[in-house]
Amino acid sequence: MLFPHPLRLLALLPLLAAPVLSYDKTACNNSPSLCSAPYNSLLHLGAHNSAFVRTRENKYSTAGNQYFNVSTQLSGGIRLLQSQLHSDNGAVKLCHTSCQLFDAGLLRNWLKEIKVWLDANPSEVVTILLVNDDKISPNLLAAEYKAAGLDSMVMEPTDKTWQTKTLQEFIDSGKRVVSYLSTGADTNAVPWLMNEFDHIFETGFENTDAAAFSCVATRPGVVAGEDKLKEAVQTRMGLMNRFLYQEISKSLKIYVNNDTYAATVNGDKGVGNLKDGVETCFGQWGKRAGYVILDFVNEGNPAQVVDSFNNVTNPVNRQQFPKNPKDDDKERNQNYASGWDQVEKLAAMARNGTKITTGQWVFAAGDWKGVWDRL
Ligand SMILES: *[C@@H]1O[C@H](CO)[C@@H](O)[C@H](O)[C@H]1NC(C)=O
Ligand SMILES: *[C@@H]1O[C@H](CO)[C@@H](O)[C@H](O)[C@H]1NC(C)=O
Ligand SMILES: *[C@@H]1O[C@H](CO)[C@@H](O)[C@H](O)[C@H]1NC(C)=O
Ligand SMILES: *[C@@H]1O[C@H](CO)[C@@H](O)[C@H](O)[C@H]1NC(C)=O
Repeated sequence: MLFPHPLRLLALLPLLAAPVLSYDKTACNNSPSLCSAPYNSLLHLGAHNSAFVRTRENKYSTAGNQYFNVSTQLSGGIRLLQSQLHSDNGAVKLCHTSCQLFDAGLLRNWLKEIKVWLDANPSEVVTILLVNDDKISPNLLAAEYKAAGLDSMVMEPTDKTWQTKTLQEFIDSGKRVVSYLSTGADTNAVPWLMNEFDHIFETGFENTDAAAFSCVATRPGVVAGEDKLKEAVQTRMGLMNRFLYQEISKSLKIYVNNDTYAATVNGDKGVGNLKDGVETCFGQWGKRAGYVILDFVNEGNPAQVVDSFNNVTNPVNRQQFPKNPKDDDKERNQNYASGWDQVEKLAAMARNGTKITTGQWVFAAGDWKGVWDRL
């Protein structure tokens, strides 16, 4: 009989002290009460530009919209993942505006991380919305899903009633991922990469005033505008873009994300808060369901706000976001400031005639003193 050395026992202690991770399979999307809820009766909480994560390694890049990776976002209660695709020398990548500016790597790696999380969290339904301005072909994108092992988990709509299926039905079918493309969908080629705007309308995303978020559709054009709101709501699920920009250069049309105010935009009090904003849209829509996407989802208490709309009282299978690594980073100021490089790169591209759509001028930063002068 071998007795373990006391030091070895000591080494085991942290393991024993770790919290027991028990996954409650009777819950769907964090609550047993949601299993019988139709997909289109819920408010789905989303991360805007999910893949563009500010880290110490990228010096908290000003082109990042989040502080935590996709696994941590999902564990924190995010159920809609939005991001931007770009074609880079034949590779399908997640890049913000351009791969020179912010390169989050291959789409397949991000999808693989989602797949790993879904395998560990077997009763969750997750929606993926990919902005595809480069119009990368659905066949190429399907190959990325396949490489990640995620293709077999994506729901293929058989008819228009798919949105009325309950979460439990999605889970039982094994197809618990809903996937949309903003542009370039071809449902004859790949039926499960749905055309976003056949199923969704979006509110405007270029918001610079916390007091002026609107609930009216801006896209698709066929249902855009106040007078068509009723039609928009009857034919599609609404997606609220609730993140705030500040215009830092009028001539170059450069926007930065307002991360200092994110806790309010994602929270339940103050001008432009999520709770009041959703309540207003639900009132105008005459419908208490849809999607909402946010920057810096660790800020504020968006999961709690969304729980209240979904009548969830005791969420399970959800983890608190860790402390923001930026706050603990002693070299933060130095690193953070170098985020300016990103803006300067972008400005150089614009001066140089590179056409960049307004919606792509999407940046995030803190202290912008002096940047104006240099642009
Ligand atoms: C995601 O981030 C968490 C910390 O928030 C880290 O523990 C984990 O290893 C990361 N996962 C991946 C796949 O990078
Ligand atoms: C963020 O928005 C708030 C509220 O509109 C405003 O007071 C603040 O100046 C903005 N900060 C930045 C860095 O844009
Ligand atoms: C939550 O409760 C409200 C008010 O009773 C109801 O209109 C809504 O459909 C419920 N939502 C869900 C997801 O059960
Ligand atoms: C203009 O921008 C393109 C793309 O970033 C780059 O390849 C090229 O070298 C730039 N030209 C000049 C003159 O800066």
